[in-house]
Amino acid sequence: MGKFVINGGRTLSGKVKIGGAKNSALKLIAASILSDGKITLRNVPGIEDVNIMIEVLKTLGAGVDADPENKIIEINPENINNYEAPYELVRKMRASILVAGPLLSKFGSVKVAIPGGDNIGSRQIDLHLKGFEDMGAKYSIEHGYINCRVNSNKAGARLYGAMVNLDFPSRGATENIMMAGCLADGQTVINNVAREPEIVDLANFLNSMGADVQRAGTDCIVINGVKNLKGTDYEVMPDSIEAGTFITAAGLCGSGVEIENARWRSLETFYFKLKEIGVNISIIDENNIKVDSPQKAYKPINVSTLPYPGFPTDLQPIITVLLSIVPGVSIVTENVFENRFMYVDELNRMGANIKIDGHHAVIKGVGKLSGAPVRSFDVRAGAAMVLAGLTAEGFTEVSDIYHIQRGYEDFEKKLFSLGADIKKMS
Ligand code: EPZ
Repeated sequence: MGKFVINGGRTLSGKVKIGGAKNSALKLIAASILSDGKITLRNVPGIEDVNIMIEVLKTLGAGVDADPENKIIEINPENINNYEAPYELVRKMRASILVAGPLLSKFGSVKVAIPGGDNIGSRQIDLHLKGFEDMGAKYSIEHGYINCRVNSNKAGARLYGAMVNLDFPSRGATENIMMAGCLADGQTVINNVAREPEIVDLANFLNSMGADVQRAGTDCIVINGVKNLKGTDYEVMPDSIEAGTFITAAGLCGSGVEIENARWRSLETFYFKLKEIGVNISIIDENNIKVDSPQKAYKPINVSTLPYPGFPTDLQPIITVLLSIVPGVSIVTENVFENRFMYVDELNRMGANIKIDGHHAVIKGVGKLSGAPVRSFDVRAGAAMVLAGLTAEGFTEVSDIYHIQRGYEDFEKKLFSLGADIKKMS
């Protein structure tokens, strides 16, 4: 299980390098199923979720060689002969559902355990399934599994291109339907899609294998199905949420911190919100950001999470920690997930003054937090507890750190290299 023990109040300074994006790498690994050739992925983050997705692919029959030292994995999908993603793996990581689109598109059928909800919300997949149905599939749910296949008696029948309208710009649904469209017969048009930079990274990856995906990054994606896809060698984009986490850590207790591989364009709304608070943040160039000690008192602000290009929900717990010590009243509104404030009680244990009112967190800034034993409830809430510990007086113990290790590579080592007093204890 493990925990981090943090002695707060140290000033952070120096350089930190951001790794590959979790929420892109997982999709690129799943999309490799579509290929007839070998795949080389570079800049792959060394995190638990990647290990689980590799397990899923091995379960399907793919060959996977990982070289964590060089952050490279090689995938050979040639021998895939099983189309079932088992409950044991799907319950550990919801993103396993993203093998459904590729398996359906390439092999015409998939059996995948229903992911179910987690600490931040019910996490429906109805939009994924509706998209597959629009493209000529039919599904049934039995014994906790979704059985989905192309609705035709013709051997080797494929999905067909269709117009798919999403009720909500879901990332998972956009990604699954986009992948399903790659080997479908005809053109698929998906309206009201997610526009995150990771969606563009997946589209670029698919096109590097010979797919024809257009307009990713806009609110409507067009995919012209092709007969087959070839191998490729591709580098995963940097993790903008990891970058946002380190930028906020520097905003909390930093002076002269350079965050390398941090693309401010992927973080624009977040970047300008920090500016609004008064964080002394500056752009070095397209891929590097600097945070210096504040020139003026921080001021309270309001933040509302929304799908990209809105404020990212994954940085909601992170910015709340910063606002918890900014004198005055700030309001943080969560619009993407229905239950993403569980960590607030832990923050109040550290002396914060936050009241939850529906999907609003009303924050009365307290100027200073005090160290305490706290729990991680999920990847981002766990990282937020660590940031709270960095700025708090005295010692903080953050438990259940396996959540953090699912999404952050060498989190404590990177913070330690910036001068934090943080130790991992088993
Ligand atoms: C992705 O989850 C990310 N996960 C999440 O990051 C991120 O918080 C989320 O997008 C939103 O940005 C990965 O990429 C692995 P959605 P995903 O489908 O794809 C509802 C992290 O910390 N919805 O955009 O599951 C759903 O219930 C994680 O790295 C439906 O109702 O998110 C939710 O309220 C946490 N029906 C909302 O949409 C559907 O069919 C957003 O979900 C699909 C979604």
